[in-house]
Amino acid sequence: MRTYCGEVSLEHIDREISVSGWVRRVRDLGGVIFINIRDISGEVQCVVEPDSPYYDTAKSLGSQYVVQIKGTVRKRPKNMVNKDMKTGEVEIVINDLQVLNESPTPPFLPEDIVDVSEEVRLRYRFLDLRRPKLQNNIVKRSQLMKLVRDFLYEHGFYEIDTPYLTKSTPEGARDYVVPSRLHPGKFYALPQSPQLYKQILMSAGFDRYFQIARCFRDEDLRADRQPEFTQIDLEMSFVDVEDVLSLIEGLITHVFDKLIGVKLKRPFLRLSYAKSMELYGSDKPDLRYSNTLIDFTDTLSGRGFKVADSIIENGGKIIGVRTGKNLSRKEIDNLQNAIKKEGAGGLLWFKSDGQKLSGQIAKFISGQFEEGTYLLVGDKPDRVYRLAGTLRNLVNYRFEEKTSPFAVLWVTDFPLFEKNPDTGALEPAHHIFTMPTEDTIEFLDTEPEKVIGKQYDLVINGIEMGSGSIRNHRKELQIKLLKMIGIDDKRIEENFGFLLEALEYGAPPHGGIAIGFDRLLAVMLGLESIRDVIAFPKTTSAQALYEKAPDFISEEQLRELHLKIIKEN
Ligand code: AMO
Repeated sequence: MRTYCGEVSLEHIDREISVSGWVRRVRDLGGVIFINIRDISGEVQCVVEPDSPYYDTAKSLGSQYVVQIKGTVRKRPKNMVNKDMKTGEVEIVINDLQVLNESPTPPFLPEDIVDVSEEVRLRYRFLDLRRPKLQNNIVKRSQLMKLVRDFLYEHGFYEIDTPYLTKSTPEGARDYVVPSRLHPGKFYALPQSPQLYKQILMSAGFDRYFQIARCFRDEDLRADRQPEFTQIDLEMSFVDVEDVLSLIEGLITHVFDKLIGVKLKRPFLRLSYAKSMELYGSDKPDLRYSNTLIDFTDTLSGRGFKVADSIIENGGKIIGVRTGKNLSRKEIDNLQNAIKKEGAGGLLWFKSDGQKLSGQIAKFISGQFEEGTYLLVGDKPDRVYRLAGTLRNLVNYRFEEKTSPFAVLWVTDFPLFEKNPDTGALEPAHHIFTMPTEDTIEFLDTEPEKVIGKQYDLVINGIEMGSGSIRNHRKELQIKLLKMIGIDDKRIEENFGFLLEALEYGAPPHGGIAIGFDRLLAVMLGLESIRDVIAFPKTTSAQALYEKAPDFISEEQLRELHLKIIKEN
C-alpha cells in the first residue's frame, strides 16, 4: 500500500507507511538527516537517524532522485512543527529507503519561484511541470474538463469528435496544412474550428453537440493566443439567442462555483456592441473597473483650441477617460508614449481638484469635474473610440483599483459586416455563417453595414472568452452572404459546397458558441498567460522547445510527399 506524501497526517501516528516520490531537498543537521519527498499530492519530511543502515544512502541523495521510503510516522516535537506545510505536524522515521532512479543536477529546481527564463522552462518542460504551481494548473485543467463534460452531458449534449485532416474553415487566420502523399500537390488543412462540421451535425439531426475541440490557427501569437488551442465548442438545434446564452450562463456559473468557489450573478450583464464601444471603446470591455469614456467633443468645440478645432472640423471626436489619481508629469508622459504607439496623434490632459481645473488644456474647459486626472485623445469616429478604449485599459491597469475580481458580460448585436480599412471590402464581423436579425435583414441590399448579426461574445475581465451566433440555416441566404464578401460561385462550390448541401436538405434552425478553454482556465486561476495552463505549449514564435518542432524532414519524406523545398535568400 502507498500513502500519498501530502496526505500523511496525525491519523498515521505510530503506523508504518510507504511513500514514493521525488527528493526535494536533503538537510544534514550534523547527525540527523532530513529528506523532503514530494509527489503530486504534496510533500512530507522523512528522518534518518545516525545509527540507521540507510544513513549513507540518505547522505548520497540528490535533488530529483526518485525514492521509495518505508517508515513509521511520528509527531514532530512542538518546536519543529511547520505550520506552512500541510504535513508539518508529522514526520516519517525511515525503516527502508530504496533509490528507484537518480538524477543529474537539474538545470533549475522545480520550485514555485524559479529564476530562469520561460525558454529554459519550456525546454525542460518535464521539470517545469514538476513545480507545484504548474502541476496544480494542469490538475485544474483536468477538473475543468470533467466539470464541462458532466454539465453538458446532463443538459442533453452528445460529445462528437470531428476530423483534423480536413478542408479550410474560414475563421480569419491562416491555415496549417498537411501535404497528401496519395494525392500529389494536394493538402489537407487542419481545422481552425469545427464550425462546418457542427452545423452539418445539426442538419443530421443530432440536436445538441459539443466537443472539447483542438483548433489550429497560424496567426500572430501573444500571451492569450496559441497556434493550437482548445475550445468548448457546442451547437444546438431549434434555438434562438436566449437559449444559447442561458445554457452558457448555467455552464459558466457552474464551473466558477465548482472549480474556484466563486458565485457569479445571473443573468450576466448585456451590452450591445454599439453601447460597449460608446461607453468603453471596446467590444471586450474590462468591467472590473467602473469608469466609462467621456465625450469632450462639444466641451472643446469653438473654445479657441486649435488642435481640438481641427480634429472636430475633420469630422473627428475627442474622447477622454478619468482616473481618480493625481498623475505626475512623468506618469502622463509615459501614457502619452504608450498611446502614441497605438496610433494616437497625442494625448491631451487636465486635472480637477473637485473645484478648480489645472493642466495642459484646463483653460479651454469649463464646468464641474470630479477630482482626478482626465486624459483625452482625438481622432476620426471610427478610430477614436478604440484608441480611448485602449487608453482606458492603460490607465486602469496602471492606476485604478479593481471593483471586483471577475467581471462577466455578454456583448451582443454586432454588425454583421465590417469594412476592411485598407481595401474597403466587406468582411464578416464574426464569421460568415451568422444570421442577420429580423429587424435589420432588409438593409442587406441597400446598406449592408447597418445589418446586425445574431452574434454574442462572452467577455470576462476584458478578454474575449467566447463567441458564437445563430446561423443561416437556409441555403439561399448563406450563398447571398458569401457573395457579399466577394466569394465567387466557383469558390462557394469548392469550399462550402458540402455545408450548403447539408443546409439544402432540411437543416433545422440552429446556433452555438465556442468558449476558449485555455483562456477560461487562465482567467479563473488569475494567470496572465495561457501557456501556464497548457502542458506542452508553443513559444510566441510557434516553436515547441521540448520536442523541437517544427523541424526539417528527410529527403525521402519530401519525395514521398511530392514536395521540393525552395531556399529563399
Ligand atoms: P472564435 O474564432 O471567436 O469562434 O473562437 C472562439 C474562442 O476561442 C478562443 N480562441 C483562442 N484561444 C487561444 N488561442 C487562440 N489562437 C485562439 N483563437 C480563438 C477565444 C475565442 O473567443 N467557430 C466559432 C465559434 C462559433 O461561432 O460557434 C469560433 O471558432 O476565447
